[in-house]
Parts: sequence; C-alpha cells; structure tokens
Amino acid sequence: MTKNYTIFGDPVEHSKSPQMHNAGFKQISFDGNYTKTHLLNGSTIKEKFLSDNLKGANITVPHKIDAFKAADEIIGLANKIGAINTYINENNKVIAYNTDAPGFMKAIEEFQDIEPINTVLLLGAGGTSKAIAVALREINIDVTVLNRSMNNKDFFTDLGCKFYDWDGMRLLFSGGGFVLSYDLIINSTSAGLKDELYPVSLELLKPLVEQSTFAFDCIYGKLTPFLQIAKEYGIKYKDGEDMLLYQGVIAFELFTDIKADNDLVESMRKGLKES
Ligand SMILES: NC(=O)c1ccc[n+]([C@@H]2O[C@H](COP(=O)([O-])OP(=O)(O)OC[C@H]3O[C@@H](n4cnc5c(N)ncnc54)[C@H](OP(=O)(O)O)[C@@H]3O)[C@@H](O)[C@H]2O)c1
Repeated sequence: MTKNYTIFGDPVEHSKSPQMHNAGFKQISFDGNYTKTHLLNGSTIKEKFLSDNLKGANITVPHKIDAFKAADEIIGLANKIGAINTYINENNKVIAYNTDAPGFMKAIEEFQDIEPINTVLLLGAGGTSKAIAVALREINIDVTVLNRSMNNKDFFTDLGCKFYDWDGMRLLFSGGGFVLSYDLIINSTSAGLKDELYPVSLELLKPLVEQSTFAFDCIYGKLTPFLQIAKEYGIKYKDGEDMLLYQGVIAFELFTDIKADNDLVESMRKGLKES
C-alpha cells in the first residue's frame, strides 16, 4: 500500500521538498507519495498528521515549535533545540526529530575535510541558528553569536555560546586584544533571502569575513550579498543547498528505513533542482 508523506507550512507553495522526496522514492522504487499541506493553525498539527493517515511529514515555518510541543516523543538533539522538522508515525504515536542540525553538519563536512573547524561566528539568533548552535556545541566547537537584537540571548548563553548584538561587537573591535578571527562564519539570518541586505553592517562584516577561513550561507540558490563579500576576499564559501538536501536525506532515511547511498542522494539533489 502507498505510504503518504507531506510538508506542513504556511506558506508552503514554494517548498521543494515534494519534488526532492518523490525523486528519491522513484530512484529506489519505494511506494511513497509526498505532497504539500498548507496548515494555518500550528496547534492542530498532530491531529491533522494522524487523521490524514500519514507515515511521515516534514514541518516548516512557522510550525516547528508547535510541532515540537505536540509530539508524543522527541528524539535526540531536537530536545535541546526546542523545534522539530520531521514527524514519523509509529503505530499512531508521533515521533519527532530535528534533521536541520545534522543536515547542517553534513553540509560543512567538505570544509572540515580541508581544515578542522574549532571556532564559529554565527550571524543571527532565530530558529535555524538555534539548531546550528546546538549541533556545533555538541562537539564542543566554540560558538559566538552576533545578532541585530538581543532576542534569544539566554538560549545561546545557556548553551555556552558568546552572544553579542552589533553594538557589543563594535565594542570588541574598538577594545582590541580580542580574537576576532573565526574558522567559519555563517549567515543564518534572513537578510539576503528576499532582499539584497547584509546580515550585519558592512563596517563589521568585512573584517569578520576577511579574517575567517570559510563562509556558509543558509540561504540557497543565490549569491547573497554576504557570499559576495566572501567571494571578494577569496574565502572558500558555499550556500545552503547541501543543508536543505541533507536535512531531506536524513528525513528520507527515517521515512523509509533505507540508508541513502550516493545515487539516491544525487537523485534527490536532481529532484530539488527541478523547476
Ligand atoms: N538551507 C536550509 O536548509 C535552511 C533551513 C532553514 C532555514 N534556512 C534559511 O535560514 C534563514 C533563517 O531562517 P530562520 O527560520 O532561522 O528565521 P527566523 O527564526 O525568523 O530568524 C531570523 C533571524 O534573522 C535576523 N534577521 C532578519 N532580518 C534581518 C536583517 N535584515 N538584518 C539582520 N538580521 C536579520 C533575525 O534577527 P532578530 O532576532 O533581531 O529578529 C533573526 O536572528 C532564512 O534565510 C531561511 O531561508 C535555510
């Protein structure tokens, strides 16, 4: 019998998850079907998931926290992150995972193969930054968060991250004597997504990028203003395509109980890129 999957979001029209997962199902001749579900009210997500007779689902903005709260069981790092993006139906019990965090770690492996990453500057303090910070702190990487506001400061400092707003970072610069070079600088703000904004003022961004070894942008499919600076300084950089792909691959493995080989991963990448 066909197993059904969906992505819940609001909005959800733009999501490329169905084409990515359906390409994966086709590649391994798995009898699965993945759709989009526009869900307005996040507090109804668990009953909707169960009543739609789904085997699994992904959850995107703005429902990741509601979905976390509603799950019967939370597995792994998601407990620390406080948000999830994957549901699995196990005998009508809703089991929840966060695959954004391991998806991100997989995406930066190619940097780590060149040089170890010990220090990270994370621009932004929203949901994605939380998942990334938890994953990095789990392996004791030193994380500094720089955000335009003090939002979520306690979450990050409780994890053992340093936290600055722009004024705080300016003070660090003017004080001198501090190490302001990082192995990896990450844009996990939404600046650059639907606009041409920098995630932090240029006066701070330029020296921070110049002194980094690698740059990563969670936004995918475009050379953002942030990545343009990395390119100008000759820093090795990548966008968020692999992060999106690998969060999907890890969810796919949970959906199907099948370990993804290279051919499967590349078929999912091809699905993702279909217009
Ligand atoms: N590749 C992937 O698989 C993947 C997965 C998830 C997300 N993403 C991308 O990651 C980004 C963040 O998503 P999210 O869910 O974490 O969003 P979110 O929870 O809404 O957080 C947004 C963050 O960006 C900051 N911000 C927003 N506009 C800004 C601006 N103009 N200048 C500077 N900072 C700004 C916010 O600062 P305040 O706290 O001060 O509001 C906050 O820290 C988005 O671009 C999203 O598309 C990619």
